[in-house]
Amino acid sequence: MTDALPLISLRSVGRTYRAGGIAVAAVRNVSFDIERGEILAVMGPSGSGKSTLMNMIGLLDLPSEGVIYLEGTNVADLSEDRRSTLRARSIGFVFQSYNLLARHNAIENVALPLVYCGVGHKERLARAEESLAAVGMVHRAHHFPRQLSGGEQQRIAIARALIASPLIVLADEPTGALDSRTGAEILALFAALNQRGQTIVMITHDPRIATQCRRTIRLHDGEIVSDETVAALLPRRSIGS
Ligand SMILES: Nc1ncnc2c1ncn2[C@@H]1O[C@H](COP(=O)(O)OP(=O)(O)O)[C@@H](O)[C@H]1O
Ligand SMILES: [Mg+2]
Repeated sequence: MTDALPLISLRSVGRTYRAGGIAVAAVRNVSFDIERGEILAVMGPSGSGKSTLMNMIGLLDLPSEGVIYLEGTNVADLSEDRRSTLRARSIGFVFQSYNLLARHNAIENVALPLVYCGVGHKERLARAEESLAAVGMVHRAHHFPRQLSGGEQQRIAIARALIASPLIVLADEPTGALDSRTGAEILALFAALNQRGQTIVMITHDPRIATQCRRTIRLHDGEIVSDETVAALLPRRSIGS
């Protein structure tokens, strides 16, 4: 394997949207590496390019300038099919709005990504139960999304993101719809998953999230304005209400 290489490298990455004849440079000249086992926060005000950046790191979108390497492979060199397969196997997504399927219960929602990885029904359910255990939600396996609180739904979404043992979990404003106490619990869950080795990128405009991550990248108008790693984290008690 290619363990000496960063998990992900971005080199002079840009993404320009064209809408109605107007070009919007949503991300500009962004370069950084994500190492295995890192947990990092990407911060910036609304419209600063956070989601655009996440979509490119998550292989949902390609840069219009520059290069993204995943374990040394230029992702633009892959066919669309290969990129989709790689995304299903390697990237776990968590969104502000949970994005659970309303007509499926928790364990079915969690198991779903494995369908795209060609895993059989029985193994899917066994692995979904393990994933639910990792987020403390086994006792809600047969509940439907409408029967769950926001924090519980987000835990289910995190279990779904973990199910294929992804190289990286990308979370876009994962606490944005939660009250501050529940948000702090979700952050503590991400920190615990990272302690067990999971690489995580969290996107937020909430400054409290950064106190849970050793490394914070700040964006402004699509550009990186700082990329800082602190030696020690603030005590957990300092976040939340
Ligand atoms: N599909 C799109 N088409 C055109 N402009 C877009 C599109 N998506 C985002 N933008 C623009 O790109 C900029 C960055 O957006 P986004 O990445 O969503 O920022 P953030 O997630 O930090 O709020 C904004 O100015 C936004 O309006
Ligand atoms: Mg966004």
